[in-house]
Amino acid sequence: MALELLPTDTLAHRQRAGRPFVTLSYAQSLDGCIAARPDQPLALSGPASLKLTHQLRAAHDAILVGIGTILADNPRLNVRLVSGQDPQPVIVDSRLRCPPDAKLLRQSRLPWLATGPQPDPTRQQALAAAGARILSLPTQANGYVNLAALLDCLGDLNINSLMVEGGARIITSFLSEQLADYLVLTVTPTLLGGLRAVNKLETTSRLRAMRYKPLGEDMIISGYLNWE
Ligand SMILES: NC(=O)c1ccc[n+]([C@@H]2O[C@H](COP(=O)([O-])OP(=O)(O)OC[C@H]3O[C@@H](n4cnc5c(N)ncnc54)[C@H](OP(=O)(O)O)[C@@H]3O)[C@@H](O)[C@H]2O)c1
Repeated sequence: MALELLPTDTLAHRQRAGRPFVTLSYAQSLDGCIAARPDQPLALSGPASLKLTHQLRAAHDAILVGIGTILADNPRLNVRLVSGQDPQPVIVDSRLRCPPDAKLLRQSRLPWLATGPQPDPTRQQALAAAGARILSLPTQANGYVNLAALLDCLGDLNINSLMVEGGARIITSFLSEQLADYLVLTVTPTLLGGLRAVNKLETTSRLRAMRYKPLGEDMIISGYLNWE
């Protein structure tokens, strides 16, 4: 069965919900890890599933990662392996730790940084001068950016569809807060014993309208997240 890159009318979704349709997409090992070590980049996906990731990026209006992923991998988050438009990069960064010379600040589609209500003025100035747009948002008790408020803000900025790529803390937050609508999971034939993709969840979910497809040596599993 063919995989759907965007299984819904995302404009209608945003008009109805006031927020973008959220696809959570990441690659994990057989033992549920997304990295061998949190601070080291690791290419997990095979060439065919990497191409699928780029197709997914091109199909979404925006792409989101946490600051941990920026600091560990310094990714570009753009579309290179297929033809298509780059999504708008969004970094969740409550303390504005993003380095002003990150790769994301050296390409045409400059990132939006989702941070807290009172960003450090010096960091804000340096990042704004480097081309980032600062989205100042409420935070939670633990200091993390309020992701529901961020989704509302992205809806106001006409983002109909958002792809969330990681890392572990961001994946766990989107799942715990039931903010992801659709999952596209790449399972690679590896055992890592490293950084687990999902930590403690308050709720459980079962995929609806699930599809699975072998792609090269990987397995792609997708479906709607149905919260219980
Ligand atoms: N296999 C894959 O598909 C894949 C994809 C992406 C990343 N990764 C891997 O994931 C690892 C990084 O994961 P990570 O967990 O360390 O970092 P992360 O999830 O990328 O970023 C987490 C950081 O984001 C900030 N944050 C702000 N608000 C948040 C919220 N509401 N929920 C969660 N985080 C919030 C926090 O830092 P502040 O408190 O400073 O704001 C937090 O420490 C790297 O090893 C990377 O290679 C793998």
